[in-house]
Amino acid sequence: MLAQRRKIIKEKATALGIDTNLLPNHIAVIMDGNGRWASTKGFSRIIGHKNGYDVFHNIIENASDLGLKHLTLYAFSTENWKRPKTEVNSIFNIMVSVAQREIRFAHENNVKVRIIGRLNELDNRVRDALLRSEEETKNYDGLQLSVAVNYGGRAELLDAVKKIMDEKIDPDNLDESMIKERLYYPDMPDVDLLIRTSGEMRWSNFLIWQAAYAEFYTTTVNWPDFKTEDFLQSIYHYQLRHRRFGAL
Ligand code: FPP
Repeated sequence: MLAQRRKIIKEKATALGIDTNLLPNHIAVIMDGNGRWASTKGFSRIIGHKNGYDVFHNIIENASDLGLKHLTLYAFSTENWKRPKTEVNSIFNIMVSVAQREIRFAHENNVKVRIIGRLNELDNRVRDALLRSEEETKNYDGLQLSVAVNYGGRAELLDAVKKIMDEKIDPDNLDESMIKERLYYPDMPDVDLLIRTSGEMRWSNFLIWQAAYAEFYTTTVNWPDFKTEDFLQSIYHYQLRHRRFGAL
């Protein structure tokens, strides 16, 4: 079943013109448009998030089957607290109830889960469920899945600056690698491809340090409609880009 799934997605990728030996090392996704998807169908926003979760799961499965090394998904930002409390609670309820399903998937697929964000500001119930997913999967070496929860790129940089000040590091000795070492997961590689759904063209405070040189791909598809084919399209377009990293 697993071998069959892997074979199918690799065949789909190849048929689209993707070189499966040259996949981006790290893909990050801003999963946007759950609310709009729901309202165009006359559903509540919560139904949008529930359907968004199915896609969240599908993309993790696709990334794992393709043999991708790093996938980071933006599940809840430091700004999302401004939403109505009922919506915030529903997102966290979905997160807790699906954590177990994702842990099972991680066990079966050698996926290592990591959570980035200010976990100390979350309810114990949510934090425990998220930390359990990290603990139970920490020895796997397949896809490394990072889920950003109560995450903000500026908050991450601020937290790194606080560590640097606590350690009384001499500014004259400070270099970029010392900042990177104090991010939530210092060994997270730079993002190669940053995808945003729902037609928005914003970066929204996501992985500010790690995505500084990412290739940006947007699609007008709302997140609950984002299918395997859309994911593969983003990789196909990434492979057409010529990355220069500031050089000629
Ligand atoms: C963006 O859509 C989505 C979110 C803020 C939450 C992300 C949540 C999921 C994809 C649900 C499942 C995953 C987990 C881990 C709970 P939006 O609400 O900003 O949509 P809008 O811009 O159309 O209003």
